[in-house]
Amino acid sequence: MKEAHARIPILVDCDTGIDDSLALLYAVASPECELVAVTCTAGNVDALQVAENTRAVLELAGRCDVEVAIGRETPLARALVTTPETHGPRGIGYAELPPATMPLSARYSPDLIVEEARRRPGELTLVTLAPLTNVALAVLREPELPRLLRRLVIMGGSYRSAGNTAPTTEWNVNVDPESAKIVFEAFGPTGKGGPAAGDRSIAPTRPTALGLDVTERARMLPEHLAALAARAGCAPDGSVAGGPSAGGSAVNPIVRYLADALRFYMEFHSRYDGFYGAFIHDPLALAAALDPTLVRTEAVSVDVELGGRLTTGETVTDWRRVWGHPPNVDVAVEADSGRFMDRFIERVGDLAAGRS
Ligand code: RIB
Ligand code: CA
Repeated sequence: MKEAHARIPILVDCDTGIDDSLALLYAVASPECELVAVTCTAGNVDALQVAENTRAVLELAGRCDVEVAIGRETPLARALVTTPETHGPRGIGYAELPPATMPLSARYSPDLIVEEARRRPGELTLVTLAPLTNVALAVLREPELPRLLRRLVIMGGSYRSAGNTAPTTEWNVNVDPESAKIVFEAFGPTGKGGPAAGDRSIAPTRPTALGLDVTERARMLPEHLAALAARAGCAPDGSVAGGPSAGGSAVNPIVRYLADALRFYMEFHSRYDGFYGAFIHDPLALAAALDPTLVRTEAVSVDVELGGRLTTGETVTDWRRVWGHPPNVDVAVEADSGRFMDRFIERVGDLAAGRS
């Protein structure tokens, strides 16, 4: 009898977005993941479109039971900048999905995060795949949040690599640097929720941050999509041999979605990054939250630049410890991208097979 392992309760904050949608599919496809709720933040596209995309993808995956909430629709202290050139005008590339039918939660995202953390103290892992607007508002509402959460895993920042938005800045932090600074401080040792805030029963752990240093090693290539499609029993474009004449559906809906969304994303990377493939930042972060052995981290002190003429949004990282500050972030410095890709193909391929 296979021992039943306890599932890992996960809250996801996303700005769905193509790679966000792959992370949602991976979460649904992972038996050890208890997807508690999903909160939506403006980023790749506006917050309402994020909420539409998030629900439509969860319905595609057969999970219309998951609570999806929307939060603040603009960054904390600056105008929203979206990236239609990267994810498409609606955020899912060339893909077309049926309009979402599941309702949007009546809860405001920051309130949902705080209420769920209070309801299950020390149990929840919050995985952020977007600008940190909602998380900043949540920790401003509840300074104890770092102790109430079991873990915080952030896809964001670039800790010793080039940026993808400005020369030294990564998108999620660049969209809302003020929120990122609030989060990195609040979850650090000097924050209200940190150890220095006094002895409490639940010692907070430092956030784990996966920046471009490791997420740009998670490269989805056409052959990966082909392998996933084969596992799902269809062609890379989602078409099913025989189609209606053989009594089957002509298309596998999840593979067709992936093919159309990733085609747009791979064309973008071909133009801007010199390869026909896609950095799948968000699924790697989600996978590392479920299996920390996928990454190796180093504890360092990180602060966010807010006043730089050229560097606002940079995650300034004190690798040589010249500041003398205690570490406030566990930064991922290595990732087992091969094991991750194999797992992604296997799990999402099996999910697609089951939804054919
Ligand atoms: O820089 C990569 C991050 O920005 C990913 O989360 C991607 O979805 C975009 O939001
Ligand atoms: Ca994202």
